[in-house]
Amino acid sequence: MNNFEFSNPVKIVFGKGMIARLSALMPESAKVLLVYGGGSIKRNGVYAQVTEALKGFEVTEFSGIEPNPQYDTCMRAVALIREKKLDFILAAGGGSVIDAAKFMAAAVCFAGDPWEILTKGGEIKSALPVGTVLTLAATGSEMNERTVISRAEMDRKLGFASPKIFPLFSILDPEVTYSLPPRQTANGVVDSFIHVTEQYLTYPVNAKVQDAFAEGLMRVIREEGLRVLDEPDNYDVRANLMWAATNALNVWIGLGVPQDWASHRIGYALTVQFGLDHAETLAVVMPGVMTYMLEQKKSKLAQMGAAIFGITEGTEEHRAYQTIDACEAFFRRMGIKTRLHEYGITEFDLDNLAAPVDEIGWKLGEHQNIDSRVVREILALRL
Ligand code: NZQ
Ligand code: ZN
Repeated sequence: MNNFEFSNPVKIVFGKGMIARLSALMPESAKVLLVYGGGSIKRNGVYAQVTEALKGFEVTEFSGIEPNPQYDTCMRAVALIREKKLDFILAAGGGSVIDAAKFMAAAVCFAGDPWEILTKGGEIKSALPVGTVLTLAATGSEMNERTVISRAEMDRKLGFASPKIFPLFSILDPEVTYSLPPRQTANGVVDSFIHVTEQYLTYPVNAKVQDAFAEGLMRVIREEGLRVLDEPDNYDVRANLMWAATNALNVWIGLGVPQDWASHRIGYALTVQFGLDHAETLAVVMPGVMTYMLEQKKSKLAQMGAAIFGITEGTEEHRAYQTIDACEAFFRRMGIKTRLHEYGITEFDLDNLAAPVDEIGWKLGEHQNIDSRVVREILALRL
């Protein structure tokens, strides 16, 4: 196990009816920017619950955060925060709304050009406090220190991490996820599953605690993910999926272990250039990364095969391949496509899809051995 330091300050308030706890969680006399997306919170009752709980606070609203939140939209909110001298951001939505709120919180306090937070890793010295009301179990953004922002005019999607943007609190009421369209539920299942594999499918460092947690999460996400397709209103299924997704990316299982994240970074270009949902990009790319890197990953792939899919027969290499097939089959059962041609993407698109990795200067994977040339070869496996 590698060395690590660990602190996660996010207060989680979990369960039915917990949005009512909001006023008690807010800093006293906070001047609030309430941030939300395209309006789902108005249709599923979350907006009504939040505004009821915020009675007595000064609240300004900012709506229209897009899936894959846009930089320019966030900067319009930053201007509003400054103009009205607001001092607290409350995000009500999925990962996009929460990520947007976290970026605004950092950008509003940043001395230079906020784009440099994303492009140059500009150091975050302070950020406004953020609270969240989560409506989609997927990203873990509600309990982590990361955010991912897109900028269409630059053809870029970029992330950054800072301990200053951990939310102060997050309210997780599984009932508010009943209203999710099946596609978004499935996206959340696949995204959270692949968050675990990004931190688990590398090489062994004898980190038994992390492995056991990771395997437990993958089992739960797979079992409950398949169940939620037939039982979208089953509270226990939704609750287990929500808490699993949070734990899949709240720093915890990645402590002291090598991490990959190549599938995530490679997938950004598929969203920017072809509009795939975040999870859709992962379901295509992840089996490719695993296949291409089989030699360096086969030990953990075989371990996962036994722990999650009951794959125990054959050589280590054979079991590793079977595990990759089982992952792909799981994504397809969730209704998510796993091949580029299914999105109309052909060999002629691969150069453009691979190019950003070198342009940004990324060396991806747990061995930093993936550049644009390798990305192209990985994507070619997924046509
Ligand atoms: O915009 P609204 O009206 O809210 O509708 C959203 C949106 O259309 C809808 N939705 C959310 N909750 C709902 C609901 N519809 C009905 N009922 C509900 N309860 O779902 C759509 C997708 O929402 P979005 O927030 O975009 O989805 P998700 O949570 O999957 O977030 C994706 C974003 O998170 C980033 C992704 O890159 C992407 O930009 N990620 C953030 C991470 C992080 N901060 O740690 C890690 C992830 O790997 C990921 O990269
Ligand atoms: Zn993800």
